[in-house]
Formats: sequence, structure tokens, C-alpha cells
Amino acid sequence: MTPTENVDAVVLVGGKGTRLRPLTLSAPKPMLPTAGVPFLSHLLSRIRAAGIQHVVLGTSYRAEVFEDYFGDGSSLGLDLEYVVEEEPLDTGGAIRNVYDKLRADHAVIFNGDILSGADLHALVQAHLDASADVTLHLQRVDDPSRFGSVPTDADGRVTAFLEKTPNPPTDQINAGCYVFRRSVVESIPAGRRVSVERETFPGLLADGAHVHGFVDASYWLDVGTPEAFVRGSADLVRGLAPTSALPGPTGESLALDGATVASGAEVLGGSTVGAGAQVAAGARVTGSVLFDGVAVAEDAVVEDSVLGAGARVGKGAVLRGVVLGDGAVVGAGCELLHGARVWPEMVLADGSIRFSSDC
Ligand code: GTP
Repeated sequence: MTPTENVDAVVLVGGKGTRLRPLTLSAPKPMLPTAGVPFLSHLLSRIRAAGIQHVVLGTSYRAEVFEDYFGDGSSLGLDLEYVVEEEPLDTGGAIRNVYDKLRADHAVIFNGDILSGADLHALVQAHLDASADVTLHLQRVDDPSRFGSVPTDADGRVTAFLEKTPNPPTDQINAGCYVFRRSVVESIPAGRRVSVERETFPGLLADGAHVHGFVDASYWLDVGTPEAFVRGSADLVRGLAPTSALPGPTGESLALDGATVASGAEVLGGSTVGAGAQVAAGARVTGSVLFDGVAVAEDAVVEDSVLGAGARVGKGAVLRGVVLGDGAVVGAGCELLHGARVWPEMVLADGSIRFSSDC
């Protein structure tokens, strides 16, 4: 029997995704299209590939969208259930809220916005071998000062949860994936907001629980920001990020059904051109995600940007590191740089705008 055969999976997908606004005004973050399918499809494919069948989605914000798309999960070979929070309960509260749906003695809990290549069999096996109460996937990163860090002792036991500091004592960070003993899920207070990171984990340590670390250094990305979202999507298209859910072969770009890329246009760097989207001659699209129905006119430049459904970019416009909401229009000759966000349906007239972080 494989270690994952008798565990549940829980995916937390109820966050509002504020850092990805305005894209998350119309769709919750885990449903945003990445490499042609909702982001969550990549994680569900990985859970299925690891042999876990029963998956509970902890939803809140735009809860109905998930069930409308994934249904009972049978088309993915999963047994999918949904639990809705009327008011968001935060990460720990969301875990407690699915308790009644758990069937096995242990559950693997996933943040729904992480791309990861960690070996789920090895994670669960480490948890069982250690007889731990909770085991955290700890990711080794190049710059741990951007995150809180999680040191472990020689036996792999977590010794502390440290806030962000300029010189953290370890390069291990909380990767947003945990194995919980079912009784530990039950011990989280029910019916109120609880942060698993700020309340549950430090509380378990203080109470002497066995909190274990599974340290890994394979592919890992939290796609919570626009910059990370475009990178994650491009890594999926180029076959760098693990998934079994791609709709087409990997390469330098992915064009979905009915997309047209004119001859003389360039689409590179892992870009996705959504269904029915058009890229006109002379345009250059790199490292970007064009949702369905987007139109990019002649000679426009779109780099490292996300263009919401039906957005239009005028002739010769330049977009670098930009998010356009659904239906937004950027007129010919406009230049939007470094973090500009245009709200859905907003129209920027031809040549009217030059926005950059230095003006
Ligand atoms: P930001 O608002 O941009 O920080 O995004 P977020 O709301 O998704 O928060 P964050 O990235 O910290 O959340 C990590 C994971 O937990 C994501 O998969 C969220 O969907 C999920 N999550 C956060 N808060 C809740 C909640 O209250 N309920 C549920 N069910 N999931 C949540």
C-alpha cells in the first residue's frame, strides 16, 4: 500500500486574492486560467497522480464557481466534496470547517495557490514515520528574508516559527502544504477565524505537540502576486513546473482553440494566447497570459503581463508588468509599465497615458 492511499486531501481556495485584483474580481484566484486551464486543475492533477482520491475543497469567496466547473470530480478520477464558509474563516478556521468531511486518520492540506513539485508520497511517509501530529512541507529558498522561516532540529522536528527578519537562521520556509493528524484538525477552535500560520502552528509547538518538517528543494512557487502568476503560467507552458493537466504540448507558447497569431507576430517566453484571442502582425508578446478573447493590435508590445478576458491593446501600445481587467481597453500608443493595473471595462484613450513607477 502506498502512503497516500488512505489519506484525504483538503485544498483551501476561499481567499479573496486581493493581490491579484482586478483579475480576482470576476474569478477566484484558483480558477484563473493558467496554461489553458484553471490554476486549481494543476494541483488536482498532482493530487490524483499521487494516488489520493478524496478531496475536500474549503471554499468561501465565489464558492459556487468551483462546483460549477469541477462537479463531483469524477472526470478527474477524484471524489470531490465542497464545504462553504459563509464568512471567511481564514486558513486554520477553514481547515477546522472541513473536519466533518474527513474520512481518513490523516489529511494533506494544500493552499490552493501554490505550484510545487514536492513528492507527496515522501511527505506523507515522513509524517507517518515520525508519528507526527503535523508535518509541514518546508521549502528551501534562495532568499528566505522575504518570508517567515521555520528551523528544524537534527531529527527534523520544527523548533520555531520565526517572523520575517533580514538574517534568518535557516533557508527553510513554510511552503503552504501540511499533513495533519485528524485529531489535530478537531482541536482547532470551530466557528471563528483562525490563522494556521500565526495561531495553530505556534500553539501546537507551545503545547509540546510533535510538529515535523519535510524539507524539499524541488520546484515551488506561490502565485499570489501578478509577477508570480505570469511566471507560474509561463513555467507551466514551458514544462518547468509540474502538472499533468496541460491541454497541449509544452513549448515557448500555448495557443488555445481559435486563437490567431498573425505571421510576423512573436509570442514567446511561455505566453498563453487564450481561446479566440488575436495577436496582430508586428506585435510581440513575451512571458504573458492573454485570457480568452483578448486582442493585441499591430506592433504592440506585451511583456510579463496578464490581460483579462476580452481586453484590447491598441496599435503600438507598450505594456510591461501590467494587469488588465476583463474588457479593459488600452488605446494605441499608450505605455503602461511596472505594476500598472487597469480595472475591468476601463478605457484608456489612444496615447493618453504614460504610466511607470518613475513618473
Ligand atoms: P491575498 O488576498 O492576495 O493575500 O490572497 P488570499 O486571499 O488567497 O490569501 P493567501 O494567499 O494568504 O491564502 C493562502 C491560501 O489560503 C489560498 O489558497 C486561499 O484561497 C486560502 N484562504 C485564505 N483565506 C481563506 C479563508 O478564509 N477560507 C478559505 N477556505 N481559504 C482561505
